[in-house]
Amino acid sequence: METTFCNLSFTIAPGRVFTPRPATERLVRTADELIGDEPKKVVDVGTGSGVIAVTLAVRNPQAEVWAVDKSPDAVALARENARRHGVADRVHVVEGDLLEPVPGRADLIVANLPYLPDSLHDPRYDTEPPEAVYAPGDGLDPYRRLLNACRDGKLVTPGGAVVIQFHREALVANCWQLEDLRRQLEEHQQAAA
Ligand SMILES: C[S@@+](CC[C@H](N)C(=O)[O-])C[C@H]1O[C@@H](n2cnc3c(N)ncnc32)[C@H](O)[C@@H]1O
Repeated sequence: METTFCNLSFTIAPGRVFTPRPATERLVRTADELIGDEPKKVVDVGTGSGVIAVTLAVRNPQAEVWAVDKSPDAVALARENARRHGVADRVHVVEGDLLEPVPGRADLIVANLPYLPDSLHDPRYDTEPPEAVYAPGDGLDPYRRLLNACRDGKLVTPGGAVVIQFHREALVANCWQLEDLRRQLEEHQQAAA
């Protein structure tokens, strides 16, 4: 099956890999602005079908992109989409947890990770793999763990930034704003509970 994302065609695998949503195009636009014209190393965490990583690589020939997912089905699909768009040499798709499989430091981290509490049932996601949408407790652990990892100067450059998708918004933080971003996520989640 096929979908269109940022005016590009992608192969999707409904039921096995999360199907990209139009709201995620906002995340890509925000990341594009942050990448600018200089060579950048970008990591897409929880890449799914690879739409974010591949679109950023297509639009930014100066960027080297790493795409990580813990789902083997997602890794296979993201690789297929990178090949399809001729960017497999600059989109390194790897299986693993968050930033763990990525060597060296990144300039930009982008992520659309699960954030809905697993006690919730949202019918909009009934056909999606649950582990792509829901997380234990208040749902924020994947993002909490990612923001913690980004504090490590060995993983993110000092001027680096993080862009995450959260309830259809693209939220940005630089290395000094990670704690504020975590608080913002928790306040929003508590208000929604
Ligand atoms: C909401 S989907 C987003 C997929 C894609 N980025 C998009 O926007 O269409 C979340 C993805 O994160 C992956 N994921 C969840 N926890 C992860 C973790 N700890 N490390 C790596 N990937 C993870 C899931 O397998 C899933 O593919």
